[in-house]
Amino acid sequence: MLSRRGAQWATIDFAHGEQNSYNAATNSNGIVSFANAENWLMHDDLAGFINEHNDFDKRCCAYGEGYTGTLRLRRAMAAHLNAHFHPANNISPDEITFAAGVTYLNEASALILCDPDQNDAIMLGRPVYGAFARDLAMRTNIHLEYVSVGDMDQFSPSCITSFDAGFEAAKARGINIKALMICNPHNPLGRCYSHETLVGLLRLCASKGIHLISDEIYALSVYERHDRESETFTSVRAIDPTGIIDSSQVHVLYGMSKDFGAGGMRLGCVISQNEDRFSSPSQFSMDLAAKFLEDQEFVAKFLQRSHHRLLQSRLLAEDLLSREGIGYSQKGNAGFFLWLDLSAFLPLHETHGDGWAAQRLLTDRFSKAGVIMSTGAEYRAPSPGRFRLVFCVDPDTLREGIKRISRVLAR
Ligand SMILES: Cc1ncc(COP(=O)(O)O)c(C=O)c1O
Repeated sequence: MLSRRGAQWATIDFAHGEQNSYNAATNSNGIVSFANAENWLMHDDLAGFINEHNDFDKRCCAYGEGYTGTLRLRRAMAAHLNAHFHPANNISPDEITFAAGVTYLNEASALILCDPDQNDAIMLGRPVYGAFARDLAMRTNIHLEYVSVGDMDQFSPSCITSFDAGFEAAKARGINIKALMICNPHNPLGRCYSHETLVGLLRLCASKGIHLISDEIYALSVYERHDRESETFTSVRAIDPTGIIDSSQVHVLYGMSKDFGAGGMRLGCVISQNEDRFSSPSQFSMDLAAKFLEDQEFVAKFLQRSHHRLLQSRLLAEDLLSREGIGYSQKGNAGFFLWLDLSAFLPLHETHGDGWAAQRLLTDRFSKAGVIMSTGAEYRAPSPGRFRLVFCVDPDTLREGIKRISRVLAR
């Protein structure tokens, strides 16, 4: 018999087992997954680097230096962040703590900042990365307070008024918001927060006495578009907190999974002035990541190639979708995804006009047609019809998946 808690945790939907993935040459009936945000376009480059640097250090057989990540990796990450995030105050290795992925650190942040029996909560804008719900709340039992900040414009300073109102409305219901969580660059909208908006959000957090957690895991997956004006990435650490907020209230999450296409390394870090101690990640992974980050010349070329391929893949996806008359968010210059608008295709006549039921029906049809995407329901979209399509797969898979989507929509 499981405990009640164990039975609830058993419902967490982690992938488990073999995947029947589409491959144009070897498995043409396989499933096209546009669901997982992985940078498939850079895996060969990363594997190439690792295979050239795989002189195994026997020190990795031991537990190592303890539970915060090796000093070598924390030094390499601090140097990397100081080079690319333009922090107002230099980031020291002491502020960095590693764990097995940002997924785990999100859960740890909720555990550290909130007490479940005190109605404590974390506030988020919507739509937002769907797995925050799982990672922040599923096992910690804390409350999440989603604030509607407009489907498309949670990046202008007007979002501050919405968060302020959301905070006060929650307080009136007896909910204690302990932190605001943002995702910058944003998943799923692929956009960056402006300097002005970030300053406003920091001021808001200071005035409410709450923490700001900024998930910046896509920080260096921002590509330049020549056909539209787009925001560049500003880290919350690039803003001098003096006179705005106590710096111990500001925490950044980053890791190897996205910018370096290394989700399998399971390495995430929190950059914070608070003393956090978690269970240590793998010594093997940390050794390889340190070697990678220490070679900043290679990192710079890697990121340049990544930006080029992300943009090309996004442009191909946009072109294929436009040809099929499928709408998507026209803004955005970051991340691995497009935010589709399929509201015009919802089979409302089959669900008595219930939009969310129609979205579930459409999702089911996509799945039967062998193509999967994350849904707007999972991402707390304010209205039904939104889907997130991860575009950084090889061109054949992209073409096949969009063809399958289009066939379902044409029914
Ligand atoms: C915004 C965001 N945070 C965190 C993660 C997970 O990061 P990690 O692989 O380090 O656990 C993802 C993965 O999709 C993500 O999109």
